Amino acid sequence: AFADALKSIARRSDVKACVEADPVLYPLLRRAAARFVTGDARQDGLTIARNLSSLGYRVSLEYIGENTTDAEECNAAAREMEELIGDLGSSRMLARVSFDLSHIGLRIDDELAYENLMKLAATADKSGIELFISMEESAKTDEILAIHERAARIHSHVGITLQAHLHRSEEDARKLPANSLVRVVKGAYKEPDTIALPRSGKLNERFLTITEQCVRNGHRVSFATHDESLIEEAIARKWPASGRFEFETLYGIKPDLSAGLQEKGQPVRIYLTYGREWYLYLCHRIAEFPPNLYRAVTAMIGG
Ligand code: FDA
Repeated sequence: AFADALKSIARRSDVKACVEADPVLYPLLRRAAARFVTGDARQDGLTIARNLSSLGYRVSLEYIGENTTDAEECNAAAREMEELIGDLGSSRMLARVSFDLSHIGLRIDDELAYENLMKLAATADKSGIELFISMEESAKTDEILAIHERAARIHSHVGITLQAHLHRSEEDARKLPANSLVRVVKGAYKEPDTIALPRSGKLNERFLTITEQCVRNGHRVSFATHDESLIEEAIARKWPASGRFEFETLYGIKPDLSAGLQEKGQPVRIYLTYGREWYLYLCHRIAEFPPNLYRAVTAMIGG
């Protein structure tokens, strides 16, 4: 309930406008977000990406945004992503661009999202960059999977995220097109029990089952979690040795875990975000892990 309330408050444009206009609250929240978000501008993301890349990490970049309901804003977001792809293409980093389909049109019309995706995929093809579709709440899963399937038939470098918490995901993993690019996550959205499992041992078992299936089917897998028991299990099962497997973590979450894996020679990708919608991203991270609220307040008061 807390997670849902926080996200719906964050999405309200009147609340956002109030926060943005508040000369005291805005900079304080911005400071709290700095742990998770590289900055407002593409250059902020690229600078951190270059630093991480020089340390041997792969990177993902996201221009933050979701649920955009104005077609011109969707197209503007897609143009920003094209610029990002261009910059990454000339940087020689092992990079990918991640995004929500609802940022580039899904809330208005599936075809708008598909058209924007195809434009991005064509640019990414030329630049040698992978694209990754994030998975949103369960009401959108069918549409997102259908758009991915259409795009991946033409562009094999368009990846998809599966949420292990959804009961349907084992079946969805089975149906992925051959040679897919897939990211497995637990799931960040609050869903009813009829649709999803809460954080639990059962969820971890399902996370491993889905991954096992993807590895066996020859897909390229990003194992996206900060759960050390899952990471240990992946190493014990020798998945990274396949060369088609990597760990992926969010910037600002358990950096020592990522560094430890990296030092042991494991392939690690760090997921970075930038953009003026950092406020929404901060709320997602707090909703997913409420102790972050305490950390955010500490950061706001200068701790
Ligand atoms: P779990 O939630 O059990 O956390 C394990 C431990 O990690 C916690 O005990 C804590 O120590 C630490 N931790 C986890 N989250 C934290 C946080 N926010 N702040 C501080 N510490 C934290 N989800 C989704 O629904 N759709 C998507 O497309 C994506 N995409 C995505 C990409 C990548 C690269 C990652 C790593 C994650 C996502 N997610 C996502 C988010 C994902 O579903 C999940 O909510 C988070 O990864 C947290 O879950 P864990 O697997 O880390 O386990």
